[in-house]
Amino acid sequence: MVLNHLLPSVQAIAVLSPEERLMKLRSDYWIGYGHAEQALIRLEDLLSCPKRVRMPNMLIIGPTNNGKTMIVEKFRRQHLPYESEDRSHEIVPVLMVQMPSDPTIKRFYSAIIAALGSPIAIYPSIIKHEMIALKLLRATQTRMLIIDEIHNILAGSAHKQREFLNILRFLGNELQLPIVGVGIKDAYLAIRSDDQLENRFEPLVLPLWDNDHEFMRLLASFQSVLPLRNPSDLLDNNIRALILTRSEGTIGEIASLLTKATCAAIRSGKEYIDQEILEQTDYRSPTERRRLYENLLY
Ligand SMILES: Nc1ncnc2c1ncn2[C@@H]1O[C@H](COP(=O)(O)OP(=O)(O)OP(=O)(O)O)[C@@H](O)[C@H]1O
Ligand SMILES: [Mg+2]
Repeated sequence: MVLNHLLPSVQAIAVLSPEERLMKLRSDYWIGYGHAEQALIRLEDLLSCPKRVRMPNMLIIGPTNNGKTMIVEKFRRQHLPYESEDRSHEIVPVLMVQMPSDPTIKRFYSAIIAALGSPIAIYPSIIKHEMIALKLLRATQTRMLIIDEIHNILAGSAHKQREFLNILRFLGNELQLPIVGVGIKDAYLAIRSDDQLENRFEPLVLPLWDNDHEFMRLLASFQSVLPLRNPSDLLDNNIRALILTRSEGTIGEIASLLTKATCAAIRSGKEYIDQEILEQTDYRSPTERRRLYENLLY
């Protein structure tokens, strides 16, 4: 079997039985692409930034389902917690939390406390939460705080939003660590309302995919990791346009369409993706799904 079109690690998977490959396709796989690599480099730079009074921060913004969480999760996995040299405690270089959808300062601090592994994360007062969170962040020598879904700040009143922005500024100053906010474009609106924070949070935008050179590189990467025994021609003009229209341009939908097409190509024995498979694959675009549910509901 000639499998030159696949990465060496994927060649070993391509020889497995159809059932085994279908199972493997269910788990997440990482595909590198320009914006993601840039984001990872900037995160690395931030993490190695020496402590100073004004720490730089970063904001990763993009449409939903466009790979934001995958990037920060990949980064976090490159900096997993480890035991201190004297084995007395754990060191957590990069801490990732989610901004609660019903954002209160207490809940936010509880998220930090819980993420740092404390069995008790709920205390009676905000002050106590703050104290414990700061103590744990110091004890675990956290050097970067990533806050996913940071746009949830906007769910609170204008007063609450200001309070949150103050807390972010306070945490950055107090612990001298970079803060990375991740969210949809509303996140930018939230941060922008505070001048001091705005010029400390440098945005990195993950735009929707377009039919350009970057997109071709992305499809080439997909082609080299999807465990099919024959090469597909995803870079063909018609196929590219079809993938972009059906997926509506987010990497999440592109991945979902291509994964389903791969399953279909394995099941049919064809072992490569062509226009026919893409058109027949049991995949609905976000708009089609919305329409379907609306029809079911009304
Ligand atoms: N680098 C990547 N390699 C492979 N698949 C990816 C990659 N990035 C994203 N995906 C696919 O896209 C899906 C959505 O990605 P992710 O959860 O990171 O989106 P998001 O931008 O955080 O969305 P939301 O704003 O809704 O939280 C993932 O579950 C995965 O299937
Ligand atoms: Mg996400």
